[in-house]
Amino acid sequence: MNEFLDFINTRRSIRKYKEGEIKEEDINKILEAAMQAPSAKNQQPWHFIVVKDKEVIEKIPGFHPNASMVKQASLGILVCGDPNLETAKGMWVQDCSAATQNILLAVHALNLGAVWTGIYPREDRMEGFKKLFDLPENIIPFSFIPIGHPDEEPFKAERFKKERIHYDKW
Ligand SMILES: Cc1cc2nc3c(=O)[nH]c(=O)nc-3n(C[C@H](O)[C@H](O)[C@H](O)COP(=O)(O)O)c2cc1C
Repeated sequence: MNEFLDFINTRRSIRKYKEGEIKEEDINKILEAAMQAPSAKNQQPWHFIVVKDKEVIEKIPGFHPNASMVKQASLGILVCGDPNLETAKGMWVQDCSAATQNILLAVHALNLGAVWTGIYPREDRMEGFKKLFDLPENIIPFSFIPIGHPDEEPFKAERFKKERIHYDKW
């Protein structure tokens, strides 16, 4: 169990990647982890687009100001929300966040590297992804996760803040 806690605590955003393919088997493991995320009423209101086409990936920094690292990535996963699949209205954002985090953890478990680049609720980014991937009207691009073979050492971060913890009342 402690190993698992260490594993969570050593996940870091990786923004530099070496060239190299990601095995189909690993892509499926990552997507399986994404779909094991908790969701409100187990509604699973998500879709995932696996993007391997470099020409497509290279267009992303044109409308996403903080995503220049995607150009080096072996592939990316676009996490999309589908409010039409909701049975618990308004919860899709939290569900897609949990799926995104599971992707990051699965990537870490496979000794690969990734970073969550945020899309929703920034209108210009959402518009860019909608156009680039020809998304249906009801589908909302939520996050884009470039994935590759790490070319940087993850830094150690101490983030435990006692003052942020409250017991029984504020
Ligand atoms: C909602 C959200 C949006 C983010 N968007 C970006 C982004 O657009 N570009 C980027 O490089 N990192 C992005 N990040 C990654 C954060 O910068 C990173 O998680 C944070 O600095 C903590 O570092 P760590 O992930 O290594 O622990 C985002 C993270 C979250 C949760």
